[in-house]
Amino acid sequence: MSETDTDLEARLAEQDSFEPPQSFIEQANVSDPDIYDAFENDWPHCWEDAADLLEWSSDYEQVLDDSNPPFYEWFTGGELNASANCLDRHLEERGDEAAIEWVGEPVDEDNRTYTYNELHREVNEFAAALQELGVGEDDVVTLYMPMIPELPVAMLACARIGAPHSVVFAGFSADALATRMNAADSEYLVTCDGYYRRGDPLDHFDKATTGLDNVDHEVDTVVVERLPSEDAFANTWPEQTRGYDELVENHAGETVDPVDRDAEDMLFLMYTSGTTGQPKGVKHTTGGYLSWAAWTSHAVLDIKPEDTYFCSADIGWITGHSYIVYGPLTLGTTTMMYEGTPDHPDRNRLWEIIEEYEANQLYTAPTAIRAFMKWGAEYPDSHDLSSLRLLGTVGEPINPRAWKWYYKHIGNEECPVVDTWWQTETGGMMLTTLPGVCEMKPGSAGPPLPGVSADVVDMSGSPVSAGEAGYLVVNKPWPGMLRTLYNNDDRFINEYWREYSNTDSDESSDWVYFPEDGAKIDGDGYITVLGRVDDVLNVSGHRLGTMEIESAIVGVEGVAEAAVVGGEHDIKGEAVYAYVITEDGYNHGEDLREAIVEGVEDAIGPIARPEAVIFTRELPKTRSGKIMRRLLEDIANGDDLGDTSTLRNPEVVEDIQRKLGSD
Ligand code: WTA
Repeated sequence: MSETDTDLEARLAEQDSFEPPQSFIEQANVSDPDIYDAFENDWPHCWEDAADLLEWSSDYEQVLDDSNPPFYEWFTGGELNASANCLDRHLEERGDEAAIEWVGEPVDEDNRTYTYNELHREVNEFAAALQELGVGEDDVVTLYMPMIPELPVAMLACARIGAPHSVVFAGFSADALATRMNAADSEYLVTCDGYYRRGDPLDHFDKATTGLDNVDHEVDTVVVERLPSEDAFANTWPEQTRGYDELVENHAGETVDPVDRDAEDMLFLMYTSGTTGQPKGVKHTTGGYLSWAAWTSHAVLDIKPEDTYFCSADIGWITGHSYIVYGPLTLGTTTMMYEGTPDHPDRNRLWEIIEEYEANQLYTAPTAIRAFMKWGAEYPDSHDLSSLRLLGTVGEPINPRAWKWYYKHIGNEECPVVDTWWQTETGGMMLTTLPGVCEMKPGSAGPPLPGVSADVVDMSGSPVSAGEAGYLVVNKPWPGMLRTLYNNDDRFINEYWREYSNTDSDESSDWVYFPEDGAKIDGDGYITVLGRVDDVLNVSGHRLGTMEIESAIVGVEGVAEAAVVGGEHDIKGEAVYAYVITEDGYNHGEDLREAIVEGVEDAIGPIARPEAVIFTRELPKTRSGKIMRRLLEDIANGDDLGDTSTLRNPEVVEDIQRKLGSD
């Protein structure tokens, strides 16, 4: 009989560190502890190891050009193509091996395998089709697609012709799509008719066309028909819309030479949430980003060409870019994609997939692990998961209890667990244990990777002592770093560098990157990331800006003011709490509440849906008029509020608490 959660907790609770299994170390891609010293002593040349994982069409002249911080350049003078790195160079040895194993949501209906040969062929055909549409080098192509194989095909086709892609998560709303297409001046859109969610077909094209109505320039659209005819929606395609299949057929068998891109040329843009209402267009480059995705996939995820690797993230987020598409394919492995949710048609689905495909790695988010825990160990326990060799988590802090559950019930205490801290901006992993080298401490991401220089500092920038909370900083540039925010160098400096750098200096050592996370560090240099210190929420591992949600809410008729904060949530980590003041004469009724929820879904998407909408007469403000968000968070969490006498309007607090209690 399997051990109960309580027994497990009792046995593992005492243990706060775990050694990697010997069997893992023996086969690990990286197992030499000297790598930390070696990389430090040889910095920045240590990153030639990452560049060596790629195939370059011209060699780079310099590893790092740091003459104009924070506009660092990596592998300058080098030329390469990302699609050639992900495809062409594997054809000889691995042409008939699976590059992508795609599992559709409907069980056993239409799973697809793309060998490297097949993927190469379709990418070439679609690249030719994009050229036919007029897409040229440096034109931004927006990809608004769910987890279907045509998404990575389109990404690689863009990369092949040197057109940066901007993938917009399919769960985002029509408005969110329009905002991103306008910001990127993107004149091309690849989308699809629909997809499945929990058994039902969703009309995605309708959302895409609604979004296009708000795009301020002409757009050429390509539509992938994912739904079989019996589930297809009766949409009429506007002008300038072409079918993906027809386009690809027109170019059957064609090849397109991969365009040589400068190492510093943009590979893609990815919009992410920040402190203002306007999403930030994070710019990643071809040489630095790709080498970072490849090296971290090799060193941390321990990916080998013969592996079947499964990351359950969505390609619409950075995790899917780096660790479903670019990292794994650069290494020539088999990467999996699953269209659906882990509980469709039932809670065995993920474990069935792992069992059937004999996946070797699972990389997922703490929010998913907490849901698996809640559903119960009987689901994974009834499947053979012995193919797994390594487990990973990303996106938010993982509590030690969830870590240990994952380690025991999914990994059978035989797989190292890597808790990887990183961001859209960092391109790839920054803090985590090397699975074949380091002991693991549940709840702590671990030390900076070799060659990465990070620390935890106080407000003045001095390192804090072990155990004290402070701010995470990165002291040296790294190849995978964002290069700027699209069309906005000033915001790039203000958001990430101003806090801890001497911005007048052109010495690289005076520049410090601030990821806007709180953290603490222990005596062994292991860093525990505590969460965002800016106005960004982390809901189910997804980044949402409170300002974006607030501006959606104040756009609803009858709303005068809104403040959004994160409240603790068992599964999601954080949930959206909205405090709302109505205009005079507006009824605080169910209708308005619904209009607010709808307003948020329309502006951003269902992921930003408020867990609670609390109507209040006023918001708690300091004497200088600033909203006391911390206090609103404490109220949402039912925490002790401490001293509220510094407020201009302390009476409002009780009022809000009463309302929340009665909801
Ligand atoms: C949080 C996701 C704790 C953090 C790859 C960061 C984490 C934000 C971890 C970036 C982790 C990510 N432990 N917190 N292992 N990984 N975060 O841009 O607050 O979607 O700043 O990138 O997620 O979210 P993003």
